[in-house]
Amino acid sequence: MTRLALRGDLLDFTGLPDLGDVDSPAVRFRPDHWLLVEDGRIVAVQAEAPGEDWPREDRRGQLILPGFVDTHVHCPQLDVIASFGTTLLDWLQTYTFPAEQRFADPAVARVGAELFLDALLAHGTTSAVVFPTVHAVSADALFEAASVRGMRIITGKVLMDRHAPAGLRDDVAGAQRDCEAQIARWHGQGRNAFAVTVRFAVTSTPEQLAMAGGLLQRHEGLYMQTHVAENLDEVRWVQELFPQARSYLDVYHQHGLLNERSVLAHGIWLDDADRALLRDTGAHIAFCPSSNLFLGSGLFNWAEARAVGHGVSMATDVGGGTSLSMLRTLAEAYKVQALRGTRMTAWAGLHAATLGAAQALGLAHELGALEPGRLADLCVWDWASGPVAAHRDAVATGQVAPLPAQSLHARVFAWMTLADERNLSAAYVAGQARWQRPAPIPAKV
Ligand code: GUN
Ligand code: ZN
Repeated sequence: MTRLALRGDLLDFTGLPDLGDVDSPAVRFRPDHWLLVEDGRIVAVQAEAPGEDWPREDRRGQLILPGFVDTHVHCPQLDVIASFGTTLLDWLQTYTFPAEQRFADPAVARVGAELFLDALLAHGTTSAVVFPTVHAVSADALFEAASVRGMRIITGKVLMDRHAPAGLRDDVAGAQRDCEAQIARWHGQGRNAFAVTVRFAVTSTPEQLAMAGGLLQRHEGLYMQTHVAENLDEVRWVQELFPQARSYLDVYHQHGLLNERSVLAHGIWLDDADRALLRDTGAHIAFCPSSNLFLGSGLFNWAEARAVGHGVSMATDVGGGTSLSMLRTLAEAYKVQALRGTRMTAWAGLHAATLGAAQALGLAHELGALEPGRLADLCVWDWASGPVAAHRDAVATGQVAPLPAQSLHARVFAWMTLADERNLSAAYVAGQARWQRPAPIPAKV
């Protein structure tokens, strides 16, 4: 049996915080507590030190959170992150499609998957819903690399049989064969799960969408991931391609693609009927603020999503998004909501990136909270990195006279807004340290 006792300031959630409630009862902050992990699972959380037979890691003065869950991110797009000057449809043609062709090569796919998953861990993300490319090898490589690291990964080869360059198109029969083979090989193996991955309505024929719906019907427990209503030109194109559909989202509904394991990225240009459809089918939106700003796509309306009652998780959407850091993403989310007239608390943001995502994916029994029975997917963070954040944290904790100490929310909000991967001290997956900040090189004397 392997054991580990971790000591630090524990922060997680027991329910859904209201978007604007700084005093939310759903917040659970347990300063200077011990988290006991046995064989990869959390077995206890307590204020008292454990017995001498527990190997200890004393992280006093550091923050421990459940590992972040990035519910929408593209592995092959590290090649095109931070590319200049385009909006969605141009960006796909100019940068993204050419880059994704490289992943036809199994060696490129393998190295790309390893680089990508190690980068996720180095940013404090321990689970993800990932787009590979149309090539089956790119999804196989992700499943293989995730298995080695013990990470919960949801992915599947991308479906696209039109409106894409030749090297990036499949066909209905070949795609179905590849998907069936991946389901048999990977779905439910360890922490791997297969997602029927429709790139977006533009790049699949109705026949391919019907095939995708058939996969979901025949195989219990598959996920579905896609993009929806991200950009106005895209929305108009979908209207032209599917004139019978009531809306962009309805295209997916008509093909049997919406259920409680469907993750739809963006969802900026939806109406209330679409939101009700999301709620009624149990599908949810991955909010991608960094990408939505970078590509000039629009401002997601989280308050309306809450009013109707469908789920929202948080996602980087790299390479449309400009960072794998969920903390930077949350800082952007706050600003987007501010432009919408809503003040998003740190609680609402951090919940969506942890327990909220786990619940939206039906994985709350496994991850997303610092709770006995869950796997120990968690990260240790510094409260501050650099002089500005250190000063701001000192103000929040009342160490700068004569300023009084501030609320817990004020402190955590400043952390969420100022922190990024430089604050990460260690990332654990199922109780094993999979990333640790390298020790500083000692100065020569
Ligand atoms: N819509 C279709 N493909 C993509 C993609 O790769 N990124 C984003 N942001 N939107 C898309
Ligand atoms: Zn995307």
